[in-house]
Amino acid sequence: MSISKYIPWWVKIAAKILLSRLPVDYKLWKQLSLFQHGYMEHPSYAYQVFKQHFDKVGEFKTGFVSLEIGPGDSLLSAIVGQAFGGSASYLVDVGAFVSRDVKPYREMVCFLSDKGLPTINISSLNSLEEILAAYCATYKNNGLSSLREIPTQSVDFIWSQAVLEHIRQAEFLETMQELRRIIRKNGVCSHRVDLRDHLGGSLNNLRFPKYLWESDFMANSGFYTNRIHYYQMINLFQQANFDVKVIKVERWKKLPTPKTKFSKEFQSLSDEELCVSGFDVVLKPV
Ligand SMILES: C[S@@+](CC[C@H](N)C(=O)[O-])C[C@H]1O[C@@H](n2cnc3c(N)ncnc32)[C@H](O)[C@@H]1O
Repeated sequence: MSISKYIPWWVKIAAKILLSRLPVDYKLWKQLSLFQHGYMEHPSYAYQVFKQHFDKVGEFKTGFVSLEIGPGDSLLSAIVGQAFGGSASYLVDVGAFVSRDVKPYREMVCFLSDKGLPTINISSLNSLEEILAAYCATYKNNGLSSLREIPTQSVDFIWSQAVLEHIRQAEFLETMQELRRIIRKNGVCSHRVDLRDHLGGSLNNLRFPKYLWESDFMANSGFYTNRIHYYQMINLFQQANFDVKVIKVERWKKLPTPKTKFSKEFQSLSDEELCVSGFDVVLKPV
């Protein structure tokens, strides 16, 4: 049983602010499940997430190029993409969070072979670099600057899972504009966005004024989300010249945090908008 749900949001914030400043290796935080960048190290999760996005955008011709934004702890999707007909992939994050252990990659190959999907034999490869080279995969970990290095109209399929809400607010539009530059004319993007706070799944993140929440001090403490709300994010996709198709919207039945507790800037938003807890969206270049 997880005790995390019994810990109040403000204790989580205080603990994360303190713990994130200790000189502790990321591997240890991950083992303790205190700070971790998602679940992509698990072959079944990586397969399921890639497939969900792939199925949403329809068929690509064999040989497509993909870009995953925010792969987190592993680059397993490079292997999955190849099994679905991809020829090359980019994976872009804001830090070098990936594990260098080759075991999950070998497990991923077995997982896909068991499903009868095509794979490359990587049993003789002993480093992440060799595996990435075998799959024509490029890992970049400098966020927006990394996106700027990807050639214009070079990618067919861009996707992300629980990432867009983590892009720093000040960089969001520019990031979307970069993705618009990178995507090919007939390319498609699929994103899953989680609008819950990362303090227990409510809206306690909206309690803070912008100057405090957007400070590097708060944003680097392991619970940052950009607090861009549903219609605002749709609007930013459109501003970046994407045609927007919302596939699915998830809602709370009522606000999980009282509106009176929100910082002023969020008080004027409608309950209808604030009750959107997550959504799936497909973007095509206009
Ligand atoms: C909640 S984790 C999700 C990881 C993975 N997609 C998954 O489903 O397990 C969010 C990821 O987004 C990454 N991220 C945050 N801002 C980013 C940005 N501007 N560009 C690329 N990745 C970013 C984080 O470093 C982290 O790896």
